[in-house]
Amino acid sequence: MSYSTLVTSLMDGIYTITINRPEKLNALNSIVLSELEHAIDEIYSNPSIKSAIITGTGSKAFVAGADISEFSDLTKTEAIKLSKKVQDTFFKIENSGKPIVAAVNGFALGGGCELAMACHFRIASENARFGQPEINLGIIPGYGGTQRLTKLIGKGRAIELLISGTMIDASTALQYGLVNYVVPQESLINKAISILSVINSKAPIAISQCLRSVNAVEDNSINGYAIENIAFGESFDTADRKEGTLAFLEKRTPKFIGK
Ligand code: COA
Repeated sequence: MSYSTLVTSLMDGIYTITINRPEKLNALNSIVLSELEHAIDEIYSNPSIKSAIITGTGSKAFVAGADISEFSDLTKTEAIKLSKKVQDTFFKIENSGKPIVAAVNGFALGGGCELAMACHFRIASENARFGQPEINLGIIPGYGGTQRLTKLIGKGRAIELLISGTMIDASTALQYGLVNYVVPQESLINKAISILSVINSKAPIAISQCLRSVNAVEDNSINGYAIENIAFGESFDTADRKEGTLAFLEKRTPKFIGK
């Protein structure tokens, strides 16, 4: 599948989605959002994909936010509809059974910060900047930002960023726990690939059960321990569990097959 605003590639089970509107700092317009949803569906449906990276073209921006030019005429009803639609796309990222990592190569503002936060974890280049500047436009984040920022960095820090509109640099993001690593720009994708290569060698069903159980922490309607309990059982009901335990006893590296 080829896209007009994304570049995608698949190598060694790692699917890389690069948002490609550098002239607009990779801002999320309606085309990007619909193509992104399609690319996320590809992660779900393509058995050759084991994990994914989301990044942006260029060395300046990951994503500088929603495309502000599409906001000027939006009515209240349209804004609610747009927010729900993008929230659903971002839930698809968060609820993927295959790990999706954000490689944040520059500005991650507004919808860009929200997109990065929907990923399972984040790696940043040294020049990355994070923020929710919507307040400067007289609006608020609508793609999950108020919720995920609070969960990731805590209420006080989240409220300050949301209502001041200020940006934080990569080292502050690291200190806040918003990103797992900060690396030089030129090492960013290799760092993501090296982490995902390790993850891709593990048992896929156990990976998906970990993601499912961790996501259950944030769902007040379910008991996370009960989900972990079932997920633990399901991980036992696999050929990979037999292979993993046998390989340990035979002192060899396991070969997982995702069954
Ligand atoms: N939506 C639409 N266009 C955007 C955009 C966005 N969120 N962010 C940047 N662009 C466009 C600019 O309009 C400009 O286009 P032009 O060359 O046709 O005028 C181009 O991208 C380059 O941006 P520019 O502002 O000239 O770069 P800069 O280095 O001076 O500033 C930022 C970089 C990120 C600080 C600045 O672009 C910015 O504040 N962007 C908006 C961030 C934001 O509020 N995001 C939340 C949206 S809800």
